[in-house]
Amino acid sequence: MDVLIRADYDQMSKTAASRIADLVRKKPDCVLGLATGGTPIGTYKELIRMHREEGLDFSKVRTFNLDEYLGIGRDLDKPYPQDQSYARFMYEELFKSINIPLKNTRVPDGLSKDPEAFCVEYEEAIRAAGGVDLQLLGIGGDGHWAFNEPGTSLASKTHIEALTRQTLDDNYELFYKGAGFSRDDMPHFAITMGIGTILSAKSLIMLANGKKKAGVVSAALEGPITSQVTSSAIQMCAGKATVILDEEAASSLRNIEFYQHKEKLKATL
Ligand code: PGA
Repeated sequence: MDVLIRADYDQMSKTAASRIADLVRKKPDCVLGLATGGTPIGTYKELIRMHREEGLDFSKVRTFNLDEYLGIGRDLDKPYPQDQSYARFMYEELFKSINIPLKNTRVPDGLSKDPEAFCVEYEEAIRAAGGVDLQLLGIGGDGHWAFNEPGTSLASKTHIEALTRQTLDDNYELFYKGAGFSRDDMPHFAITMGIGTILSAKSLIMLANGKKKAGVVSAALEGPITSQVTSSAIQMCAGKATVILDEEAASSLRNIEFYQHKEKLKATL
């Protein structure tokens, strides 16, 4: 696992976007695993800039998103942010501003009539696409990856998950409150890729920024591997995981100096 520490959110986002852009240039029909939340927005903005100013071409890229709330899906009649689906988030924050055909983008279908069957189909679709080449991830306040809340098996595949109070509170503050929803209106379940699904990606980039993530980042990276902090599964990603942090999110790590030293050494290889 490589841990890259950047001065601030902007630098973290630029480093992540440049890694994604490298892959898109090298493999134009790559499969990207994408994340929602506040953390990746800067990365998406930088990818949009690269598309506009540098011609970064997404026309053959395919994407699979990590998760979606159960019971909601993109509502074409409602503008953002009243439509709080992750499908809408992806459209507004990335897809509408790059040249990716929407048919190449998949977000779990929160409106599926048979969500259990949908989960099986989603796994199959990822496999049929050849697997995810690069999975982008944030980390939740409770240590989750996607919506894999504490106690989820580290071998889990796409499934339906009940959301913790902390996740509901975090997401309410970030998105729902501003859109005029009451806390009770929030969906309490989600469809999410499992930790096993995420670990099967060929490479992973995990992002975290801000002081409030410092404790959980240190638990995930330097604590025990445990289903109580599902992102601690990153420690099982031999040679394929990169963690990109701003200085605040990195501030509780024990081995900061070593991570910085290793990055400099690797640059000389
Ligand atoms: P955030 O969420 O990016 O909004 O902090 C991260 C997550 O829940 O994975």
